[in-house]
Amino acid sequence: MKILMVSSEAVPWAKTGGLADMVSALSISLAKLGHEVKIVLPRYYSINKDQLTLLPGGMGTPMGGVEEWSAVYTTEMPGTTKRNSIDVYFIDHNKYFGRDGIYGNQTETDFLDNPRRFIFFCRSAFQLCRKLDWYPDVLHAHDWPAAVVPVYLKFAERVSGSLGGFEKTVSILTIHNLGYQGIYSKDNFDYTGLGWDVYYNAGFEDFNMMNMLKAGLYSADKLSTVSPNYAEETKTQYNGFRLDGVLRYRRADYCGILNGIDNKVWNPSKDEYIPVTYSKKDLTGKAKAKEALQKEFGLPLDPKVPVIGMVTRLTDQKGVGDLFGPTYGSVWSICKDMDLQFILLGSGESWCENEIRGLASRLSNFKARIGYSEKVSHLIEAGSDFFLMPSRYEPCGLNQMYSLIYGTIPIVRRTGGLADTVENFNEKTGSGTGFMFDYLSPSSIYDTVGWAVWAWYNRRNDIEKMRKRGMSLDFSWEKSAQKYLELYEATQKTMGIVTAN
Ligand code: ADP
Ligand code: GLC
Repeated sequence: MKILMVSSEAVPWAKTGGLADMVSALSISLAKLGHEVKIVLPRYYSINKDQLTLLPGGMGTPMGGVEEWSAVYTTEMPGTTKRNSIDVYFIDHNKYFGRDGIYGNQTETDFLDNPRRFIFFCRSAFQLCRKLDWYPDVLHAHDWPAAVVPVYLKFAERVSGSLGGFEKTVSILTIHNLGYQGIYSKDNFDYTGLGWDVYYNAGFEDFNMMNMLKAGLYSADKLSTVSPNYAEETKTQYNGFRLDGVLRYRRADYCGILNGIDNKVWNPSKDEYIPVTYSKKDLTGKAKAKEALQKEFGLPLDPKVPVIGMVTRLTDQKGVGDLFGPTYGSVWSICKDMDLQFILLGSGESWCENEIRGLASRLSNFKARIGYSEKVSHLIEAGSDFFLMPSRYEPCGLNQMYSLIYGTIPIVRRTGGLADTVENFNEKTGSGTGFMFDYLSPSSIYDTVGWAVWAWYNRRNDIEKMRKRGMSLDFSWEKSAQKYLELYEATQKTMGIVTAN
């Protein structure tokens, strides 16, 4: 199959979260299974074009009556072989992407022209195929920045009178986070160049605003999200971010496929960022990583005290209000009352960053680094004993999976993909892979961390067994990539498209 991934993020070029990891890892796995995969990304200012190859000739993209010109750069996905290489294309347009930031910056957290930037990006995905004379069987769009792709396919490209080429193409839209929908003033709709009938028919209309994700959810041939449990949750009012009705309406075409993890990058027996690699047969490397982590954060080098680690975006989704909230957050009492060390790496909302700095200056066993670091994140995954994810919602979550295979026991809220990947500790039988709670509140976080710390000091045998159980789990991408292929095929079937073989 020919598959074009349309995404605003992909590692190693642009990343704010797990979306970037998922897009590249899924593409690599599909290519390994013998499929022809290409990825298209904006050429953000931070992506060095000297390392890319410029395609000859420019590319014109119609943008509501005018044609916008861009350059197209390309390179191959690193780490792939000739047989399963992936071409990655970058749309270079100075006005839209020639600035710092993917979606925003410190002063303008959501760029005012984001609707225009990403409408342009979606439209240019089609122009790119024309330029390459390469028409995909599947257009796989990710999250709201790519959500107008299925709209164009359905209402502009697969209709009679269009320029042609996409008659046999189907579209999939994957939701990575329903909390971000791309809702903007409807004045921006004119940039799409589509008629106002499409505005209503495609489902852009949202209380007099333009909702880009909603239109994608109505228009894509099939929908998916990144865990089976999140697919169920998003159909309920509680977790549906006002789009539960749309998702219930499309339930026959909507499924959840659990993300895998890239086991070349996240693998304790190959990890280049940790002092000594390890496996479940020999955990000495894990003890060394703990020591290195304690040293890195200036904590006493004590193997006996449990280390609770966290790597996260500091945003409401991740439960940071209940953990660090200025008047009632639980971290203060956790660190005061319990014999543990708490280490955090994260960046995000400034109230939270400030709160964390304040806590770190007053608590001797709480250390934090505000910022982004691939290396430190690996060290935290390897060197911690427990990994905390008290998420308000979590479509899939990658860090709990990294934790499990690194022998670091997750402490998580039972939500989204966390519920699909972690099994709660059973005190009677000793079974389970982590510690879980349901209701998000400062006291539940306090109690559950307390439970884990109690088990650390009193149920050492169970803890060691849980570690090993986690390390034996298989979160490789192969299984998930196979499910995406089945989804692609099912979509072709639903759309009545017959392929050559
Ligand atoms: P989300 O995409 O919602 O942030 P995920 O768990 O799916 O959550 O993915 C988060 C990814 O981003 C993980 O790979 C995690 O290690 C990484 N990450 C988040 N914050 C940081 C940080 N400050 N430094 C390094 N990596 C980070
Ligand atoms: C989003 C979600 C996260 C998921 C990631 C990759 O960022 O918040 O839970 O793991 O996408 O699909």
